[in-house]
Amino acid sequence: MIEPTGDEREVEQTLRPSNLSEFVGQQKVVSQIELLISAAKLHNRTPDHILLAGPPGLGKTTLAMIVAQESNRTLRLTSGPAIQSSGDLASMLSALDAGDVLFIDEIHRMSRSAEEMLYLAMEDFRVDVMVGKGPGATSISLDIAPFTLVGATTRSGMLPTPLRDRFGFTAFLEFYEPGELAGVISRSALRLGIALTDEAVGALAKRSRGTPRIANRLLRRVRDFAAVNGHEVVDMASVRGAMALFEIDEQGLDRVDRQILRLLATQFASKPVGLSTLAVAVGEEPDTIEAVIEPYLIRIGFIQRTPRGREITQSGILHISSN
Ligand SMILES: Nc1ncnc2c1ncn2[C@@H]1O[C@H](COP(=O)(O)OP(=O)(O)O)[C@@H](O)[C@H]1O
Ligand SMILES: [Mg+2]
Repeated sequence: MIEPTGDEREVEQTLRPSNLSEFVGQQKVVSQIELLISAAKLHNRTPDHILLAGPPGLGKTTLAMIVAQESNRTLRLTSGPAIQSSGDLASMLSALDAGDVLFIDEIHRMSRSAEEMLYLAMEDFRVDVMVGKGPGATSISLDIAPFTLVGATTRSGMLPTPLRDRFGFTAFLEFYEPGELAGVISRSALRLGIALTDEAVGALAKRSRGTPRIANRLLRRVRDFAAVNGHEVVDMASVRGAMALFEIDEQGLDRVDRQILRLLATQFASKPVGLSTLAVAVGEEPDTIEAVIEPYLIRIGFIQRTPRGREITQSGILHISSN
């Protein structure tokens, strides 16, 4: 789906913008981060902790790398699932050098005990660690080097308030407009040496679900399609052919998206459906539906969340009846 696949990671490295001026779109977030970095430089201090929130593939990891790069700091990478105990976090934090940027991806998936340790570390640059075992165990407080935490999450609602409050700034990444995605595609095409017609760029942008990662993925698929069919330039024929092959419709929806819409329209007869019911019906994790699939369907107005569950809209019904 939207998460990067194995060999995609490599391509993503080469396509990743390495500074803010190369980062396409998200004008507001870019200006906000620019300000944070400039202010920190001006006063010669570490930038405030930053939380990046939004659906997968919109540039959270990219921005974390850019923050480190633009403030000339070393980036240390980890992720919530890798931090299963406060001990894991303590050793990571005590290994930081002053001014390092620590990136915790999927920060909402950290263990509770690590989360609590992180509060203190973010606020006072201190960690409390337990020494010894059993009745003789005591807690000692250790100073750690001042650092900037950059957290990324697809589920900012799942972060406990005390953690959310300790970020100086939260950036909410929005889905990209087709014009911005066209910018992403043109930039990537240039880097990968792919020639496309303007019309093909526009058609891909429209099918990218507002997501740069998907834009880059579709670009590689049409490139393959054109190459195999002996075309040097990717034109509309290649776009149509590749999209038909991979069952991606004019709105960029794939089989799972359409399956969800169809279920909501027919089996559930346009009545609100609970997330877990829907997840069972399509065989996906509730989490994936909520964080990955649903946000775009809501954004384009095909489904809506009501207090009683998910509901298909008139435009959703219209789309599914013609696809
Ligand atoms: N604003 C952007 N401009 C250009 N490319 C982008 C932008 N945002 C994301 N990308 C591309 O999309 C890919 C996925 O971005 P990433 O930062 O890994 O997303 P996330 O961490 O939010 O899932 C990157 O490899 C990058 O090439
Ligand atoms: Mg990421």
